[in-house]
Amino acid sequence: MIYYFSATGNSQHVATRIAGALGTQAQSIETAGTEIRLADGEPLGFVTPTNWNELPVLVREFIRKANIRLALNNYVFTVATYGFLQGFVCEDARHELKRKGIKMNAGYSVKMPDNWTPMFDLSDPAKVQQQVDAAEPQIDEVIAMIRQHAQGNKSHDRMPYFFRVVTDPLLTYERQTKFFGVDKSKCIGCGLCAKKCPVQAIEMQETEKTETNKLGKTPVWTAERCALCLGCLHRCPKFAINYNNKTQSHGQYQHSKYYKKQ
Ligand SMILES: Cc1cc2nc3c(=O)[nH]c(=O)nc-3n(C[C@H](O)[C@H](O)[C@H](O)COP(=O)(O)O)c2cc1C
Ligand code: SF4
Ligand code: SF4
Repeated sequence: MIYYFSATGNSQHVATRIAGALGTQAQSIETAGTEIRLADGEPLGFVTPTNWNELPVLVREFIRKANIRLALNNYVFTVATYGFLQGFVCEDARHELKRKGIKMNAGYSVKMPDNWTPMFDLSDPAKVQQQVDAAEPQIDEVIAMIRQHAQGNKSHDRMPYFFRVVTDPLLTYERQTKFFGVDKSKCIGCGLCAKKCPVQAIEMQETEKTETNKLGKTPVWTAERCALCLGCLHRCPKFAINYNNKTQSHGQYQHSKYYKKQ
């Protein structure tokens, strides 16, 4: 079984390709149960975005909660998708699994478009498509290594694990929902952002009905912190959500294979 978390489709795509090649299933952690029983020889993979060089909070929570029962010859691996610097995601996953008495056999990475658009510009579709295409041979390589049951950390663009003492507080700071804003001249009140948020951090509240917002609803971030997946910002059909007023000119991103613009 291959477990993945994916806000904008990169990790879903990688997980689906690996699962297809290995003849197993790709399962989103958002809908997965935490009782994991493996059959003899069954692979156990985690495919995850990189968040400030480490595991996203949701993936960390999932691994911590999961009750994993291995059988014989289960090959355990993590694949980090990332855009710039993978950091120590694989090492982080190895530590989390070790705490549960599970040996992670290998770590891999696939470089893809960077959906952290407060910093990276994904507004040029041709450039983005080049990055999406460039990921395909990397995925093939990862699949070949998984098939050979390669051992060790094979991921690229790494940083030492001890940098977590710096990145953890940064991620916690950036997860504050006060950084999200909504352009009321664009928002149609559809509620998709609230419906799809993996941690229910958004509530739809009443607002004045307008020509644009005929439903008279507006998203309000009611949780102090969220998982910072940026799914709400990238999925909004009107690109009405911004993060810290830094994202408006950097475009929205969804992996072309798995998400269609509404
Ligand atoms: C909060 C946040 C932090 C991120 N931090 C990093 C990072 O430190 N290094 C990096 O290379 N990519 C970083 N990214 C980019 C994503 O890891 C990358 O685009 C990933 O493939 C997205 O996966 P998804 O489409 O499955 O959600 C970050 C993205 C977000 C939303
Ligand atoms: S998804 Fe976008 S348009 Fe729909 S309610 Fe949320 S912010 Fe408004
Ligand atoms: S509020 Fe947006 S960025 Fe935060 S967890 Fe929900 S969907 Fe992800």
